[in-house]
Amino acid sequence: MTLETHAAADADPQPAGRFRYEALADFIAGLVKAGTLPAGSRAPSLREISTQHRTSLSTAVQAYRLLEDRGVLEARPQSGYYVARAAAALPLPAPTRPPLRPAKVAVSGLMLQLLENASNEAYVPLGCAIPSPRILASPKLDRILARTARTKGAQLNNYSPPRGEPALRSEIARRAMRFGQALPPDGIAITCGCTEALALALDAVTEPGDAVAIESPTYFGLLQVLRMRGLRAVELPTDAATGVVVDALRDVLAAGRVRACVLASSFQNPMGFTMPRANRLAVLRLLAKHRVPLIEDDVYGDIHFGEERPVPFSALDRHDNTIYCGSFSKTLAPGYRIGWIVPGRHMARVLESKFASTLATPVLTQVALAEFLSSGEYDRHLRRLRREFADTLERMSRVIEQAFPPGTKISRPAGNFVLWVELPRPVDTRALFGQALKKGVCFAPGVVFSASGRYAHCMRLSGGHGWDAGVEKGLRALGALATRALR
Ligand SMILES: Cc1ncc(COP(=O)(O)O)c(C=O)c1O
Repeated sequence: MTLETHAAADADPQPAGRFRYEALADFIAGLVKAGTLPAGSRAPSLREISTQHRTSLSTAVQAYRLLEDRGVLEARPQSGYYVARAAAALPLPAPTRPPLRPAKVAVSGLMLQLLENASNEAYVPLGCAIPSPRILASPKLDRILARTARTKGAQLNNYSPPRGEPALRSEIARRAMRFGQALPPDGIAITCGCTEALALALDAVTEPGDAVAIESPTYFGLLQVLRMRGLRAVELPTDAATGVVVDALRDVLAAGRVRACVLASSFQNPMGFTMPRANRLAVLRLLAKHRVPLIEDDVYGDIHFGEERPVPFSALDRHDNTIYCGSFSKTLAPGYRIGWIVPGRHMARVLESKFASTLATPVLTQVALAEFLSSGEYDRHLRRLRREFADTLERMSRVIEQAFPPGTKISRPAGNFVLWVELPRPVDTRALFGQALKKGVCFAPGVVFSASGRYAHCMRLSGGHGWDAGVEKGLRALGALATRALR
């Protein structure tokens, strides 16, 4: 069906007494209902729709406004119209309840298996939280890197200054200003990814044997960083919507059990939560009161699906008690290994540790990245990335709703590109992991996200690859395996 069957002149009532824009709106609503335009996906642009249906632009605008009023489409400034997300059919994962005791960090043997298999192209890549090179590709960055190597290669074949390249630090400071982080470029030190930033932060404020409060579940790389330093972990209970349970942190701090606390700034990996502002402020107050520094990990902050980038803890912290860690690994260039740390009063200690760990961060990539950031291209790149990840997670959620067993729960992140899935017990995702590999699918089993072997009934699924038929097939295969495990 096309609209031509309906319409003569834009504002003329149709034979059935309807205006043309109403017929156009019904046509689009039909596409949404049929699944041709899935929830969360981008609707055709106004120009496309008016050309395709030979209507004026103002008719298309009227139709889209009507669909907005009906809750079928939603407008996102500077980005166009999107199909509104349907009310989620599956509940959020249950709040977690780890014991509030410091314990040695046990890292599951499955973690190495996961890392080995995650980059194997033979598998559907739902395992590691790595964006696909296709999605990250920026021809402009490639060109800048090539030109920088050609014109300044010899000159840049050197150690960078201890804090890293000044031009890159200036660009990072300029961006941070936008979300309320007032940073002098000299307050930033460039690191080899966020991993090194986290390690340097921990080295600055802890000694081996100390306990560190962390979210439970948490990113498994952090568990390794803790373990390799002989640090113990206190796993904090979390809620899939609001993050760390503030009362639990209060108890842990009151017991004087921890020397530092590591939290995600937003879109936590793996649960996806962003702590509400009031909870962040409460956390900052508590930590300052007990003189326990906060180390925040903000690798996902730029991948926000809503309009506003969440404000990191450090931008809210009046006590100078937060060490900020970030990187470009999830948004642009994991292979460049460029991150940064804002260590506040711990800068000297951090620079000493940096010297001892990697001495300096490679210069060529820092200089190229600085030029790329100053070109303005990064913002365009991020807009595309956010659209693609929002769309992918939406589609993945819909398939999980259809293909996973009754009782399944999933996270609803407002940014990032991973989903946390809680399966009905007694499904054990450790067993499912091997079975899934045999079916050609890799995912991250829940236990790798806990310092104490929890979450065997959970899994994390990465949408970093983007959406395609292979991902859909892989998800359906996982759903079938989980359903079988329950029989
Ligand atoms: C929460 C979190 N922090 C840090 C990292 C590692 O970042 P980088 O590659 O910059 O070292 C990851 C990678 O998965 C992550 O998910």
